[in-house]
Formats: sequence, C-alpha cells, structure tokens
Amino acid sequence: MTQIKSEIKQIEELRQLLQQASYAYYVLDAPIMEDAVYDRLYRELQQMEIEHPELVRLDSPTQRVGEKPAIHFTSVRHNIPLYSLENAFDIDELQSWEQRWRRQTPTTDAVEYVSELKIDGSAIALTYENGILVRGATRGDGIMGEDITQNVRTIRSIPLRLNLGDLENLEKVEVRGEAFLPLDVFRQINEERQKAGEQLFANPRNAAAGTLRQLDSRIVAKRRLDFFAYTLHISGMDDASIANTQWEALELLEKMGFRVNPNHKLCASLAEVAEYYQYWDTERLNLPYMTDGVVVKLNSFKLQEQLGFTQKFPRWAVALKYPAEEAPTRVENIAVNVGRTGALTPLAQMRPVQLAGTTVSRATLHNSDRVAQLDIRIGDTVIVRKAGEIIPEVTRVLTELRPPDSQPFVMPTHCPVCNQPVVRESDEAVTRCVNASCPAILKGEIEHWVSRDALDIKGVGEKLVHQLVDKNLVHSVADLYDLTADQLCALERMGKKSAEKLIDAIAQSKNQPWSRVLYGLGIRHVGSVNAQLLTQKYPTVDQLVTAKQSDIADIYGIGAEIAQSVYQWFRINANQTLVQRLQLTGLQFVATEDTTVSNSNQKFAGKTFVITGTLPTLKRDEAKALIQKAGGKVTDSVSKKTDYLVVGADAGSKLEKAQTLGINQLNETQLLEILEDSQN
Ligand code: IVH
Repeated sequence: MTQIKSEIKQIEELRQLLQQASYAYYVLDAPIMEDAVYDRLYRELQQMEIEHPELVRLDSPTQRVGEKPAIHFTSVRHNIPLYSLENAFDIDELQSWEQRWRRQTPTTDAVEYVSELKIDGSAIALTYENGILVRGATRGDGIMGEDITQNVRTIRSIPLRLNLGDLENLEKVEVRGEAFLPLDVFRQINEERQKAGEQLFANPRNAAAGTLRQLDSRIVAKRRLDFFAYTLHISGMDDASIANTQWEALELLEKMGFRVNPNHKLCASLAEVAEYYQYWDTERLNLPYMTDGVVVKLNSFKLQEQLGFTQKFPRWAVALKYPAEEAPTRVENIAVNVGRTGALTPLAQMRPVQLAGTTVSRATLHNSDRVAQLDIRIGDTVIVRKAGEIIPEVTRVLTELRPPDSQPFVMPTHCPVCNQPVVRESDEAVTRCVNASCPAILKGEIEHWVSRDALDIKGVGEKLVHQLVDKNLVHSVADLYDLTADQLCALERMGKKSAEKLIDAIAQSKNQPWSRVLYGLGIRHVGSVNAQLLTQKYPTVDQLVTAKQSDIADIYGIGAEIAQSVYQWFRINANQTLVQRLQLTGLQFVATEDTTVSNSNQKFAGKTFVITGTLPTLKRDEAKALIQKAGGKVTDSVSKKTDYLVVGADAGSKLEKAQTLGINQLNETQLLEILEDSQN
C-alpha cells in the first residue's frame, strides 16, 4: 500500500517536472532542461506507467504521441458558437466600423481596443474539465465541428492540464485560438508533396487545416503544429470577475499555460490601432508564421456584451486585413519548361503585377491536367495569388474577359528544347521528354547534382550551368570534375580567382558521403531521406547494384515503386558508365567512417531488442527494420543481455521471462515515439 502510494507520488512528480520542462521549451521558448535529461525522465515515467497502467492519465506527457489512425472524425456541437469576423480592408473601413458600433451603442466611457495579429491558421476550440483537456474540435461551420482531440493532444504548446492556481474550482473552461504551421514546416511539407507528385497546399492555412484533419495522429505529431490562444470562456464568467477585459483574458490564458502571441497591444484610439497595423504590415514578413491582418477587439467585456453579435459576426471585433495577395493580370504567353526528369511544365508568363510586396510575372501551371482544368489561354485575364507569400499561382480565369479568337492550350508533341517526341504514360499527369541527351535535362541534372542536399557545390548556379552546357564543356555531371580553371576563365564574367575557387569547390565535393552521391544521381523517387535509407542498408554501391528488387522494396519506408525505380536505373548502360566514371574520379560510393560515427549516436546503438506478441499496427518485420535503422539489434530470445522487450497483444513466455529478469518493456506507441524523437 505504502509502496503504491509512493509510486503514485513519484509518477505525479515526474509528470509535473516534465510538464514544466515542456512548457518552458514550447511556450516560453526558454528551455530549463537538457534534451537528454528530459528523455531520461520521460522514459522513467513511461516505464512506471507500463508497470502501473491504472495510473496512466489523460494529461500525462506520455499521451502526446498520437494513436493509431481513426476511421473518421465524429461531429460535435460547440457549446458556444465560433463566430467569424467582419473584414475591413483599410483604415477608412475601420473608421466606419467604429462609427457603426458607436451609433448602435453610444458610450461616454473612454474606449480601449486590443490589437492582435491575425494568424493565418485554423481556429480550434479546446474544452477543459476540472483543468484537464477533454476535447479539441475544429471550427466547422461554427455550430458543428469535428472532434480532433487526438490530434490536438500532439500540439506541444497546448497544455493537457491547465495551471489554474487559485482558480482551481473552475469546472469548465473553453479556450479558442489558432492552430498554425510555422512557415518553414509549411515549405517543407510542400517540398515533400512536390517530390511525391502530390498537389501542393496553397497556403499555411490550408496546410494547417489539412494536418488537423489528418486521421493518423502520429503523422500530426511529426508536423510541429503550433497554437496561439486568443479567446477564453469560463462558464459563469460574467458573475465572477475573473477577467473583465480581453487584455486580462490574454494574461490569464498565459498564466494557465497557453502560448499567447506576444505582439498584442492595448490601444487607446483608432489612431493607435492604425499605427499598429502599419507597423506590422512590413514587420510581419519577419515572423516565422504567416499573418494576414490585424484583429481589433473592444477591450471591455461589458461593452462587448452590450454590442452582441449579428448573424455571423461579433459587433465588437473586426479583422483589418492586409492588401489582397491576389491580383488580376494578363497571360502574355504559356511557355513550357523542361526539368531534370524530362517533365514538361507549362508556365504562365504574365504582365508583371505587384503582389505581397514583390513583382510576379510567372506562375507554374503544373501539368496539362491543371491547364485543362483552368482552361487557361494566352490573352486571358487571370487571378494570380501568392500562396503563403511563396509560390505564385493562377487561381482562376476571368473567362468573361477572354478575347474572342483565343485558342485552348495544347501540350507540345515535341520537346521545346531538343525537338524530340515527348511521351505521356496513360496513368500519369506528366508529359516527358525521354531523350537522354536533351540539354534541358542535362542542365537540370547538373543543377540537382550541385544542390545543397546533394553534393553541395557552392558557386555553381543556374547561369553557370547553362553556360557550361551551351558551350559544350559539360555533357554529364562527371565532366564537372575534368573542368580546368582556364576553361572557366573563358566564360562570361569569370575572373581567375573565382575560377580557381570553383575548381576547388568541385574537387572538395569528392569528400561528400555516399548517401549524398546517391541522392545527387537524381534517380526518380530517391529523395535525400530515401537515399539515406538505401545507403544504410547498402553501404557500398556494389551491394546496391547487385541487390534484388524485392530486397530493396523490403527496406522500411522504401516500398515497391521506389525499389523498381532504383533497380531499373542501375540496369541502364549509360547509368552504369556514369557510376564507373564517378568512381574513378574519386567520388564516394562506399559509406565512410562518418556514417558509422553517426550510427553510434543513434537512439538504439548497442541495444538489444526482442519483439513478442502482435503489435497493433506494425508487422514484426517492420518493427524490426525500424529498430535496426536506429542502430539496435533484434534477437529471438530473451536473456540477461536483452535491453528492451517490445510487447504486443497475446504475449506469452517471453514476457514472463522478461518480467523475471526485470527487462524494460515498450509497447508499439512508445517504440514509435522514441524513434520519432530520434529522427528530429
Ligand atoms: S477572434 C469572435 N483573434 O480569423 C471572435 N481570430 O477571419 C473570432 N484569427 O475564425 C475570432 N487570429 O480563425 C481572432 N487574434 C485572433 C485571430 C483570429 C486569427 C482567425 C480565426 C477566425 C478568423 C476570422
């Protein structure tokens, strides 16, 4: 009895400590503990919870890792509707908003506004009962939303338990705010989607909404969603004077443990609001997340209540938006670009237009399906938008303004660069030039070879590559290594010093590891992550070349399509010759010491595992591959040398033996979580 009591206490202390550390890290941005210490304590808590499953609680830090995929989301009714905001597009419109509410509810009191940044994410509603997060829901139509509690739990800056201090008796608290993706994560997701041939998210808002509605919360856990809280509803708040103003509510939210955007400001007049709006118009471009305006709220809750709501909006708040990131312009030409894989990409060339502070004159049209869907033609007036302040995109065509003689766009039947016939496989959206010596493909291949994640050769940019190919100095990436400083000196704007520096940079790239070389070869579907997976399994190119296609496909994370692409690539004569030449030149086709060193940093280096029982989602082989990838060894029988037993359903004698020997146990969720941590 006393032992159990002390264990309960110990678990509680561990949880509190971890919770504080996580709060300091994710909310305050001021870590109080080294990662390794956190990991150790976390593991300790995990272990105690395995030993005492009855003590696992919803607000434990171990509950943030996501669960196996849901089949669908259930609809939930919001206790208080989630309103949206009326928009104002300039200071004049802001002033008329003020005049309107003042006419409706005259007040002689001095009026204060709170100005907040309008975060471009997705609104979510969080319900806490007795301080514990019990529900997270999307906005939906404002009345009904979807229950995404499992996903919300994975957002580290959302407290699972509130810090209520002396407000301990609050039974129900509803917090609203914006879930969003930092811009770097947004870009990364789109890069991955582009590589995988999936449609890109138009902006961080769509990406955040898409992530929140992802059925597999383990994927959500990896996405680094973040959250800023801005609305607090406490049942019966009107009678208690817990918070009387939006300003106080934000302060309270912060005390409760939420991340509140620090850039809010108390303004004594609309003139101050205007100043705030102008300041952030440029300053917002330096923020790591996307904002699309300013939200102006009357500070006093009393006044807010008097003003009330229209059908859709609160009368006491308004969204003051920054100028549209969409603008009309005319399509002057539709060019066709040929990339490294030979893919033909239609490109709209447009009359230059100012958008979100930059001039836009070109936008990708992706492929012929997209062109057909838009029915975009030369001469059309189109709306372009700059999505997430990054990629300009044509969103629609104003067909009513179309010139009468316009013709639908047709994809060329021949490559616009080498004039050879192009092909389009029936199951693909992409049209390709398949001429291996097409100069456009060669330029793309070289640009890829020198790029940051591949051989990372600084100073070799697009212009230089074009000159090298056009002047017939380079016919394959291997030719880069035969270039001389004298040859480079003969090129436009190239001095002797820069030429020598470039030759040196090219030579240095011979030290880059095998995984980068493999990525640099530009095999379809082999991104830098896949290249690492492949080189881990096959530390030498000879092993990879002689591997069976089915063995390649067995690598966890690779699969049939990628395996086929790799296998076939190495069967083409020209590719074999290229590899041989690069090998002779001195590039790395064998994993070096470096990779072994990094292996010893892996989470499971030197650890021995046994797997027993049926795991909920992973097949035995998959679990084994994952453990091996993290440097661990998997054996069949439990002994004193076993470090961890991975336990699934219906485990038998191995579990018993492990228990007698006091061996650590992990369930699948815990295993995946440790692995996820190690990938970050
Ligand atoms: S207040 C009734 N504050 O903007 C109060 N909304 O266009 C309504 N948003 O649905 C919300 N930042 O998703 C508020 N600081 C902020 C906000 C914010 C972003 C979003 C929110 C809302 C939409 C309205």
